[in-house]
Amino acid sequence: MSEWVKIHAPATTSNLGAGFDIFGLALDEPYDTIEGRKIESGIVITEVSGPGSESIPKDPTKNSVSIAAAEVLRRTGADFGIEIKIKKGIRPCSGIGSSGASAAGGAYLAHVLTGEKLSLTEVVLCAAHAEDVTSGGFHADNVAPCILGGFTMIRSYEPFEVISIKPPEDLGIVIAMPDVLVPTKESRMVLPQTVSVKDLVFHVGNASCFVHAMETGDVDLLGRSVKDAVFEPARSRLVPHLKDAEKAALSAGAKTSFLGGSGPCIISFFKKSEMDGKTIADAIKKVYDENDMLCTTWITTWGAGCRRE
Ligand code: HSE
Repeated sequence: MSEWVKIHAPATTSNLGAGFDIFGLALDEPYDTIEGRKIESGIVITEVSGPGSESIPKDPTKNSVSIAAAEVLRRTGADFGIEIKIKKGIRPCSGIGSSGASAAGGAYLAHVLTGEKLSLTEVVLCAAHAEDVTSGGFHADNVAPCILGGFTMIRSYEPFEVISIKPPEDLGIVIAMPDVLVPTKESRMVLPQTVSVKDLVFHVGNASCFVHAMETGDVDLLGRSVKDAVFEPARSRLVPHLKDAEKAALSAGAKTSFLGGSGPCIISFFKKSEMDGKTIADAIKKVYDENDMLCTTWITTWGAGCRRE
């Protein structure tokens, strides 16, 4: 029997205001752990555990981990199969890249088991293929940062080109996850199919300054540049008390507070040199407490990409 390989696959936040399907950021916490070992042939999932794992299919044709791993095996012409165990740390339907971490972790696991024959960009594409099958759209804004770490942006999908930037050291992040499930497929169905020139101009201005702020480490400008005139407004009705929670975070000192990915997670940025983020997490929790809803929070920062544990 071959040895087990354990992969750490981090949560990610995507869109970040104006960068719908383009921007993504790896988070230090939470994360999934994907374990695998070579078997003679085929892919089998023998264990799925962790929050929300009861909703995750063990059928390898329907599971993001195995679909992504199979794509790596196919591309490399591997002559073996993989047994997989999945430990979810990221609840599905959370908006912090749960399916992305599964897909990226599966692709990265197969990449390691096949002797790292693909480039990391190809590994990202294998993971994005799984996102396409399970989430209703080919988007790599979660799987790219999950594999590459830090901040990533997809310059183009055809041909595929991804650029990564190291985010500011001073960037603190609060993640708040209200107790509501928002499947990405449904969250994409409420989006408009056309945008006005006014909104396009607004997005290009904010997206450009967001990238400049990432490059220069300007967390204040980063906060001012998280603006979304199109996607969050269309989705806000899917997340109860979203606007109140964002307002509470801003009053508690956050530089910005916005819908993470397709929701329901709410992401707030703060400066680590100014505060520890607890007041922001508490302020959002209070909004949900007052509305008899549970809300889980993490106070974290950005992080590295998939790696062996
Ligand atoms: N960019 C994607 C979306 C991310 O917003 O639908 C899904 O988590």
